[in-house]
Amino acid sequence: MSYNLLKGKRGIIFGALDENSIAWKTAERAHEEGAEFVLTNAPVALRMGTINTLAEKTNSQVIPADATNVEDLENLIEKAQEILGGKLDFVLHSIGMSINVRKGKHYTDQNYDWTHKGLDVSAMSFHKLMQTLYKKDAMNEWGSIVALTYMAAQRVFPDYNDMADNKAYLESVARSFGYFFGKDKKVRVNTISQSPTPTSAGQGVKGFTGFMNYAEKMSPLGNATALECADYTLTLFSDLTKKVTLQNLFHDGGFSNMGVSQELMEAMEE
Ligand SMILES: NC(=O)c1ccc[n+]([C@@H]2O[C@H](COP(=O)([O-])OP(=O)(O)OC[C@H]3O[C@@H](n4cnc5c(N)ncnc54)[C@H](O)[C@@H]3O)[C@@H](O)[C@H]2O)c1
Repeated sequence: MSYNLLKGKRGIIFGALDENSIAWKTAERAHEEGAEFVLTNAPVALRMGTINTLAEKTNSQVIPADATNVEDLENLIEKAQEILGGKLDFVLHSIGMSINVRKGKHYTDQNYDWTHKGLDVSAMSFHKLMQTLYKKDAMNEWGSIVALTYMAAQRVFPDYNDMADNKAYLESVARSFGYFFGKDKKVRVNTISQSPTPTSAGQGVKGFTGFMNYAEKMSPLGNATALECADYTLTLFSDLTKKVTLQNLFHDGGFSNMGVSQELMEAMEE
C-alpha cells in the first residue's frame, strides 16, 4: 500500500547490496511512496551485487562511493543534487562490516588493523557522511538522516564482536552530530536499532540462526523483517516525525524491553 508519504522528497540511499539488504527494501518502498533518490555503494560491492536491477526498478541512478573516503562522499553529494535537481530531504546510512567477524577472529584476539577498518566503515563513515552533508549545506530544512544499528551497542552479544563497539560509536555520533544538524540546519538525525535480519551482513555473524530464533521467541511481536524496517525508516523520512531527533529507536518487536518470555521459560524447564 502506498500513502504518497515521500512525494517530492529527494535523497541518497547507501547500502543496497542485494534484494535481502535493508537498504534495498527501503529503496523499493521509498520509490512506491513517491521519493526520488540516488543509490550508492562501495565500488567493489557494485561489482559483486545486483544494484542495477534495483536502479531500473526505482528509476534511479547509481553513484559509486566508498563511505570511508571523503572525496567520494563529496562527489556523491554534489552529483546527487545535480541529478535530483536540488538539496536533499533524506539520507539512509545502511552500512556495516567487520573483518574480525568475517574472518572469525575472536573479540579477545583482535587484529587491530581490521578493527580500525571496521570502525571506519561501520561508524566513522557516518560522521564523514554528515560532515560532508553539513559543510556542503546539502540538506533541506526538516530533512532526516537515519543510520541502522543493533542492540549490541547497549547489551552483550558475544559473537557480535567488534561490531558492538562500532554500533556504540555510531549511535553516539548520531546524537553528537544531530545536535549541530538540528540547531544549525533544522535536520533530524536518528538511529534505528533493528532485529536480527537475514542479510549478507547479518548472516556473517557466528551463530546467527540461534541469535534470530532466540530474539523471535523473546519478542512479543516477533522479529522485525527488512521490509518492516524499511517502512519504519520511511516514517522517519516523512513529515510526520519532524521533531524526532537524537534518538536510538528500537525496531525489534519489543525485544529490547523483555526480561524473559513464557516460551523461553518453558524451553529452559525441559
Ligand atoms: N542484518 C541484521 O541482522 C542487522 C541488524 C541490525 C542492524 N543491521 C545494520 O543494517 C545495516 C545494513 O545491513 P544489512 O543487514 O542490510 O546487510 P547488507 O550486507 O545487505 O548491507 C551492508 C552494506 O554495507 C555496504 N558497505 C560495506 N563497506 C562499505 C563501504 N566502505 N562504503 C559503502 N558501503 C559499504 C555493503 O556493500 C552492503 O551494501 C548495517 O548497518 C547493519 O549493521 C543489520
